Amino acid sequence: MRLKDNVTIITGGGQGLGRAYALRFCSEGAKIVIAEINFENAKKVEQEIIDMGGEALAIKTDVSKEEDTMVMAQKTMERFGKIDTLINNASIYYGLESKPLEYISVDEWDRSYDVNVKGSWLSIKAVSPHMKSANKGCIINISSGTWLVGIPMLLNYATSKAAILGMVRCVSREFGPFNIRINAITPGFVSTEASKSIKGTPPDTFDVIKAQTALGRNESEDDVVGTAVFLASEDAAFITGQNIVVDGGWHLY
Ligand SMILES: NC(=O)c1ccc[n+]([C@@H]2O[C@H](COP(=O)([O-])OP(=O)(O)OC[C@H]3O[C@@H](n4cnc5c(N)ncnc54)[C@H](O)[C@@H]3O)[C@@H](O)[C@H]2O)c1
Repeated sequence: MRLKDNVTIITGGGQGLGRAYALRFCSEGAKIVIAEINFENAKKVEQEIIDMGGEALAIKTDVSKEEDTMVMAQKTMERFGKIDTLINNASIYYGLESKPLEYISVDEWDRSYDVNVKGSWLSIKAVSPHMKSANKGCIINISSGTWLVGIPMLLNYATSKAAILGMVRCVSREFGPFNIRINAITPGFVSTEASKSIKGTPPDTFDVIKAQTALGRNESEDDVVGTAVFLASEDAAFITGQNIVVDGGWHLY
């Protein structure tokens, strides 16, 4: 068990990759907080973890609202007494529409930034006093290969995911003196329900990406979660401000 008694908050942990982090972190010994806008899904994951013999707490959280993120941190402290890891995974991704930038509405743009960028900042802001007073912490921001590859027609999403990498670099220097590490994971195109739900993507998208990927196959949730375990573990104790691209060699530097 690489994360025994590590208290981990996973925003958007109710489905897809967030749920996969939750279950894997539990199997590594972590205690899990699922901070989710979809409370029904969060409760289901909470129950799955309890059924695995682990400890979990579902908290209804809209990460774009400061009062919700403060409650998220407060309830985690009340239940578990510390916060070791925050995974900023919540995102406007399911049901996203792929379309020319002229057709993206201001509301769509603002919602992407409210959740993906502001929500990541607010979640960091909420946990930071607790991590600072413990002189220890790990934050993992989830970016996306869309901006690395330069995928068109998803400008609100892709640029918000680029912004949270800038956040990683700046916060790493600000929080380094408090022994709080922050890194990013950049997945490629993972076959979650959300990826399949994106409107306007050609039906052969998975085949096209598979052909462009060095390892010659599509990415699964299992391909991503191990990197998060590594970053949260003591093996990554001297790693901060970095981005780990986990895409099977889709985008190559
Ligand atoms: N699936 C992929 O191919 C892929 C690739 C690169 C990056 N990512 C990123 O990985 C993460 C998870 O991807 P996924 O495929 O599981 O997507 P998903 O849409 O299934 O999961 C996002 C979760 O965030 C929750 N959420 C949305 N708004 C929220 C809010 N305001 N407050 C709290 N929770 C909120 C949703 O309810 C959902 O459970 C996202 O950050 C996504 O951008 C995914």
